[in-house]
Amino acid sequence: MLKEFYTTPRLGMDLHDGGGPFGFDIHKAYEVCTLINDMDVSVIIETGSNTGDTTEFLAKLYPTKKIITCDINNNYFNFAKTRLEKYNNVEIYNVDSVYLIQNLKYPKDTLFYLDAHENGMDLPLTKEIKSIKHGIIAIDDFNINAPGYSYEPAINIDCIKGTDDVYINNPLAKYPYPLLQRARRCGRAYTTKKVKANWNYEIFKKFCK
Ligand SMILES: C[S@@+](CC[C@H](N)C(=O)[O-])C[C@H]1O[C@@H](n2cnc3c(N)ncnc32)[C@H](O)[C@@H]1O
Repeated sequence: MLKEFYTTPRLGMDLHDGGGPFGFDIHKAYEVCTLINDMDVSVIIETGSNTGDTTEFLAKLYPTKKIITCDINNNYFNFAKTRLEKYNNVEIYNVDSVYLIQNLKYPKDTLFYLDAHENGMDLPLTKEIKSIKHGIIAIDDFNINAPGYSYEPAINIDCIKGTDDVYINNPLAKYPYPLLQRARRCGRAYTTKKVKANWNYEIFKKFCK
């Protein structure tokens, strides 16, 4: 995981965190990858590809899993499409995230990484959550009320009604690697819809609450 994380180019455009896989936040990558591994996820759906930093990281790390991503912005989409065409486990679409979710068939062991958030644009999150039939859900930019972790407008529990138990990351948890992202850190939330998650995995209990 570390090797793929630090060898994926940071080509993200117009991003406050400077881009990189999972916003160059190794703790976020560690959490999401732990979920993918422990819950034996077969399909990953990312909303908001931007230029494909996280998509490429996931494509390299999980060559046997299907990764589906979309971006509404034509420029980002065109860039990411060219960048990702060498990965035959990636599908990328130039559509709105809610449209993508509503028009896809996916198994129960699908992980959604909801990251189609951009300042000044409508936040599709509530509709994305409503449209998900089943799966494991990771929400980026969640307000965890911790100093140094911020996002405006606040993404909070009201935005994700209709899901099961929600866990948030614990910034004080002892992770195996130091977090080197200084530009901008953000919280995340993890939940499920119609999937029984075993949140008791030792590794997951350590860094979420
Ligand atoms: C924070 S960036 C995504 C970063 C990317 N996930 C990564 O880790 O490199 C958010 C992206 O969501 C896209 N976006 C915003 N609203 C969207 C929508 N309704 N549907 C699809 N994409 C959207 C923006 O164009 C932007 O590129």
